Amino acid sequence: MSFLEVNNLKVEFDTADGIVSAVNNVSFSLDEGKILAIVGESGSGKSQTVFAMNGLLDHNGRASGSVKFEGKEILNLPSRELNLIRAQKIAMIFQDPMTSLNPYVRVSEQMAEVLVHHQGVSKSDAIQQSINMLDAVKIPDAKNRIRMYPHEFSGGMRQRVMIAMSLLCHPKLLIADEPTTALDVTVQAQIMQLLADIQKEFGMSIILITHDLGVVAGNSDEMLVMYGGEVMEIGKTEHLYSNATHPYTQGLMSAVPRLDDSADRLVTIPGNPPNMMLTPVGCPFSPRCKFANTTCSLQTPILAKVDNNDHYRACHVAIEDIL
Ligand SMILES: Nc1ncnc2c1ncn2[C@@H]1O[C@H](COP(=O)(O)OP(=O)(O)OP(=O)(O)O)[C@@H](O)[C@H]1O
Ligand SMILES: [Mg+2]
Repeated sequence: MSFLEVNNLKVEFDTADGIVSAVNNVSFSLDEGKILAIVGESGSGKSQTVFAMNGLLDHNGRASGSVKFEGKEILNLPSRELNLIRAQKIAMIFQDPMTSLNPYVRVSEQMAEVLVHHQGVSKSDAIQQSINMLDAVKIPDAKNRIRMYPHEFSGGMRQRVMIAMSLLCHPKLLIADEPTTALDVTVQAQIMQLLADIQKEFGMSIILITHDLGVVAGNSDEMLVMYGGEVMEIGKTEHLYSNATHPYTQGLMSAVPRLDDSADRLVTIPGNPPNMMLTPVGCPFSPRCKFANTTCSLQTPILAKVDNNDHYRACHVAIEDIL
């Protein structure tokens, strides 16, 4: 049994124009202490996958399938039960720290409240633990800065505050949804380094969502590539970097600007993202895939083992034809 097991997760939204299939039969597992990166372009279903796991879907959304956390089914749990698990074991950080921080309340109050409310510690202990956590995320002069308001911090520092806040209850799983996208490149690298350091220090598992493959290398153990709400390829990050056999993963990888490349050589994958209103038939990537054959537009490929490195891909095209 894995620490986290997601099986055939499906997310649908009711809209005025019909049903949107945002996530289709997504399955993956995560072991304790590992970092899984979920990558894919905008709209591929990355956020809705983790929102569904956490009971955070919009009102018009519904999820089916199974999400087992420490052996317990948590998908569609009543919100009271899920809130308990979320407060103590699963923390989430978002792209924009201001979605979690109240701009009008001092950081000290917001952080202490988490501990007083969820762990029943005294206010003065809570403040001290909060200062320690701000130290842990390397906020200089945490003792004094904790009295500041969120807007008094820079973007990068605010993201550190949010990370500190999410760690207060020592979660076993941290889900970071594009935690660095709003930051400039240098600060992005610092926050990624911080997450990696924190993972080592606290030993939790992390799901890191990003559409930037550049941050995945060296910052994750496993990598799940999504397109059109489906898993295209999954495997160990290092292995996938040199052995990706799905045309979409390969396209994504060739789109990563390399340090020795000039910016104007950035490759993009031609074509548009799929229309999520249509019931998916065949491989969602087939209209944009240069290797696609007739089967690809008719049958949904299933995730199949590629090699003995826990490497799976969903693709009808023979590997020999791609490499
Ligand atoms: N409340 C909603 N009603 C209808 N469709 C929705 C709703 N919320 C999300 N969607 C759709 O679900 C699909 C997947 O969205 P999701 O937020 O998971 O994308 P993403 O991969 O996280 O993209 P990004 O990188 O832009 O954050 C999108 O097509 C989106 O439009
Ligand atoms: Mg998203």
